[in-house]
Parts: sequence; structure tokens; C-alpha cells
Amino acid sequence: MAVDLVQLRTEVNEAGKVMRILGIETSCDETAVAIFEREMASGKGTVLAEKIASQIETHARFGGVVPEVASREHLKALPVMVEDAMNEAGCSWSEIDQIAVTSGPGLMGALLVGVSYARALGAVNNIPVIPVHHMEGHLFAAGLTEELPDFPFMTLLVSGGHTMLVRVDAIGEYRVLGQTIDDAAGECFDKSARLLGLPYPGGPEVSRIAVNGDEKRFKLPRPMLNKDNLNFSFSGLKTAVMYKAKELGELSDQDKCDLAAAVELAVADVLVKKSVRACVENSVTRLVIAGGVAANQMLRSLLECESAKSGIRVTLPKPFYCTDNAAMIAYAASLQEWKGGNNWDVQPRWSLSVES
Ligand code: KG4
Ligand code: ZN
Repeated sequence: MAVDLVQLRTEVNEAGKVMRILGIETSCDETAVAIFEREMASGKGTVLAEKIASQIETHARFGGVVPEVASREHLKALPVMVEDAMNEAGCSWSEIDQIAVTSGPGLMGALLVGVSYARALGAVNNIPVIPVHHMEGHLFAAGLTEELPDFPFMTLLVSGGHTMLVRVDAIGEYRVLGQTIDDAAGECFDKSARLLGLPYPGGPEVSRIAVNGDEKRFKLPRPMLNKDNLNFSFSGLKTAVMYKAKELGELSDQDKCDLAAAVELAVADVLVKKSVRACVENSVTRLVIAGGVAANQMLRSLLECESAKSGIRVTLPKPFYCTDNAAMIAYAASLQEWKGGNNWDVQPRWSLSVES
């Protein structure tokens, strides 16, 4: 019986029908589940259902994500969310062809919850379970709503833990051309927000008050902008914000807005200039952005405007698919044929580059 089901699904796919993938993401502080359907002939994809449960409020009182608490929250949320998503998509288990789960990088305990649950579902329902690199999910997330460019293209991947410029030569062939040597861009937003008395996650908060700020009032540094490489450094920028805040003493609402506007512009300026340089130096004319910080409106506008001047076209994912979600995990799995079998484990540290 078990073998027959697998056989049946293969036949259905080969007949050019659809492939349905259940995506599970639990690498950090968001539990996410999605059901993604891909038409095999056209490659067209549709998200049939998606659920996200944020743990932000649970961790807020600790001032950061507590790994053990994150694992427990994932464990509580995941079974209910999977059931809800299945109901919403109107799917039975026999209609799910694959389970795609984030297997790294991320918090060890949090990853283990997602992977163990995916494996249990796979074993009970006789469905193959595919491990997905979280950053690979981000790399292609724009493809959920936009047409992805032909290879090679450049991706600026900016999240809470990563800031990298990746040349995507093919599925599975990624070259990290530059990355942060200290804080990630998202981390810089989060730490600056805390200095301004704003809650976590700081990026959207900084952005919200920056709208009422004068970005020219404070001059903030553009770390590593003139260095002859594609690496980034954001810890000095956060320190500069700290000194400005100390200098001012009690911050008025206007001081906060002006500082927020200056940080947002400084981060965006460095990211945009290095992304354009990466494209020009590699003779690549298509740029994709990804990761939570890619939801930033000022970054998106500046990137489009500056890239156009160098003949580069930018592909922007919908802000919802910039931050962590499970549709991007299912989508990344749908782009490749998994040949690795079942002998894999979670990888809390996992390089994206093909070189290492
Ligand atoms: O990709 P993501 O959801 O999770 C990680 O894998 O890290 O990124 C989260 C990061 C946080 O640092 C958050 O402050 C930042 O993305 N972020 C933003 C915005 N929305 C989220 N940063 C700037 N502007 C935003 N609108
Ligand atoms: Zn992420």
C-alpha cells in the first residue's frame, strides 16, 4: 500500500498535473506553515493556504529571542497550524506530494521541532520530507509573486541575521560575493530602535517614525562604503547612533524621528551602492532583493532608482514574502529535485555558498 501511494503521486506528476507541497518553517521566532501548489507543465505556482504565528510578544519581556522558549512555542503552535492550513486548502494527506521543512541555518531546538514534526507527518502519511536551506528560501521568495529573472542574477539578502550579496548562477549554485563582517542590516535596525526606545523588531518601527524625520539633520557614517570589496559592517553605525543619542541627552520625539530617518538612509545608501557595484563588477543586469529588511520602503525606492541609472532591473518581492514565511520554503523545494534521500539532519550553521 505504502509503495503504491508514492507510485501514484509520481504518475500524477509525470502526467503534468500539479504538485502540492506542505512547507514548514521554524528556524527562529516565527512558526509558519503553507501549502503551495505548482503546475508541473507551466511551472505556475499558487499558495493555497498559509499560516504564521509570531512569537514576538512572548520574547519581548526577555529583550531578545530565548531559544528554549522558541522551541516550546513552535511545538505548541505547529500541529494546530498544519491542521488549519490543510483545512483551508481543502487538502487531504493523499494530495500532498512533499513536505518541505527548513533544516538550517537557525536555532538548533527550533529547527528540531519543525524537522521532527515534518518527519512524523511524512512517516505517517508516506510523504517524502525535503530539507530546505532557510536562506535559499529567501533567495527565491520573490518568485512567489513576481517572475524571477534568468540566471545569473544578483540577490541582496538582508535579514535579521544576514547581510549578503549572492550571485545566483543556477539553482544550487550560489556565490556569496560579500557579507557583513559584524552586525547584519536588520540587527542594526533592531539595535538602533532599542536606543530610540522603540520595540522589537526595530526595522518597521524605525521606518514608521522616519517618515516624520529630517534625514539630513544628523550625519551618520557609511561603513565600508569606500572599501574595495563587497563586504558590509553595521556595528559602527549603531555605535554612532548611540553617541548621537547620548550627546542629545533626553530625546524629543523629533530627535527620535530625525535619528531614525538618518539610520534608515545610511543603511539603505550602503546596501544600494554595494548592490549596484556587485552587479556592475559581475556584468549582471538583474537584481533581486530578499529578507526582512527588503520590506523597507525607502530601501526599495532607492534601490529601484539607483539601479535604473546603471541599467539594472530590480525584482522586489511582496513585503509579506520578505520576512520569514513557509511559502518560500515550499517554493524553494519545488524548484529542485531532491536526490538526497532520508539521511540528513538539522544544520544550525549552514553555508549558502558553493565554495565552502
Ligand atoms: O528575514 P527575517 O524576517 O528574519 C530573519 O531570518 O532574520 O528578518 C527580520 C529582520 C529584523 O531585523 C527586522 O527588524 C527587519 O528584518 N525588518 C525590517 C523591516 N521589516 C522587517 N527592517 C527595515 N524595514 C522594515 N520594514
Ligand atoms: Zn529569514
